[in-house]
Amino acid sequence: MKDIPFNKPYLTGKEAHYIYQAVYSGKISGNGTYTKKCNQYFENRYGFKKCLLTSSCTDALEMAAILLNIKPGDEVIVPSYSFVSTALAFVRQGARIVFADSRPDMPGIDESRIEELITPKTKAIVLIHYAGVACDMDKIMAIALKHNVFVVEDNAHGIDSYYNNQPLGGIGHLASFSFHETKNITSGEGGLLVINDDRFIERSEIIWEKGTNRAQFFRGEVNKYGWVDIGSSFLPSDVIAAYLYAQLENLDDIQKRRIQIWNQYYKGLRPLEAMGFITLPAIPHYAINNAHMFYIICKDLEQRSALIRHLKERKILSVFHYLSLHKSDYYHKKHDGRDLPNSDRFTDCLLRLPLFYEITNEEVSYIIDQLKSFPDFQLVPELELVGVNK
Ligand SMILES: Cc1ncc(COP(=O)(O)O)c(C=O)c1O
Repeated sequence: MKDIPFNKPYLTGKEAHYIYQAVYSGKISGNGTYTKKCNQYFENRYGFKKCLLTSSCTDALEMAAILLNIKPGDEVIVPSYSFVSTALAFVRQGARIVFADSRPDMPGIDESRIEELITPKTKAIVLIHYAGVACDMDKIMAIALKHNVFVVEDNAHGIDSYYNNQPLGGIGHLASFSFHETKNITSGEGGLLVINDDRFIERSEIIWEKGTNRAQFFRGEVNKYGWVDIGSSFLPSDVIAAYLYAQLENLDDIQKRRIQIWNQYYKGLRPLEAMGFITLPAIPHYAINNAHMFYIICKDLEQRSALIRHLKERKILSVFHYLSLHKSDYYHKKHDGRDLPNSDRFTDCLLRLPLFYEITNEEVSYIIDQLKSFPDFQLVPELELVGVNK
């Protein structure tokens, strides 16, 4: 068996062709033909009100923080078990981050403990749909409505995933997506801002294009464009959008294959869960699984490290994920001192297995077999059991 990487970006075959078309169209700056096609793809397929392609999910989150007018003194609730950008985008605007814990059964934010974190200074709740598995959005939106705060869905993982029948990214006031090369659909680096609340639509285009009303000018709505607000250069080149569009056209095929792989892992590893050796991902009844990742939960950090070594010796690359942000070098002194035990448990115990379009069924079977051969996961031999029963 050759080495099995953790991830391998999938090429659908059309990427180079669309990039060629973008290059020879003579218009490769931002907001060109392919950027519009990508924005419209999301608006049409998912019914999102307004979509703006960005250079990364981090950029989309920074745009969200600007749009929400986050200022020094404001508080923003963010899950500690997340990527740095989920908090950083709001910190850059001066917010104080109030970290929330994960649920005991899955890494997403513990919805039942959000309300106790709200103060008169709270401006927004930012959540992530970890592994593309939805948070309980009805509960979160009800809390937001009651306390008059905004909700941002960091949907970096959750393309084509749903909460009941609603697509993730279409429920909060604003949402972000990532097309980084580890995601289901990729453009190397890339992201998307979704604006679901009409109040933010006009300003979002301005922030996107360096604080100017350039988009309005090109639509013929104003006769000159200039500096009207703050913003930055958040839009990607049309070359990136061309690559992304080729991927989007194959979304259904990519999703179908990823879900097959996910199901193979789940079925193959069920016996290890049934015997109490590991925990498999929980998918609540209201959530769809978009097969963004397959993870297992080990007993503790020591066991996870040993398992990573065990798999590496068998040419399989497995990786852990986030480190609790409330304990990060950058923020731990500013954290209010609350323990967040579930976030810490996922930090220590969650292990991600290889999942990419081109991994074969044989490779997945091999990985399952190697997990089953891990010394900690050995069954008590049958003979001994018979002896005990006697
Ligand atoms: C939850 C979450 N948010 C944001 C990001 C940042 O995404 P990007 O690399 O597109 O900026 C990531 C990165 O993987 C992430 O996992």
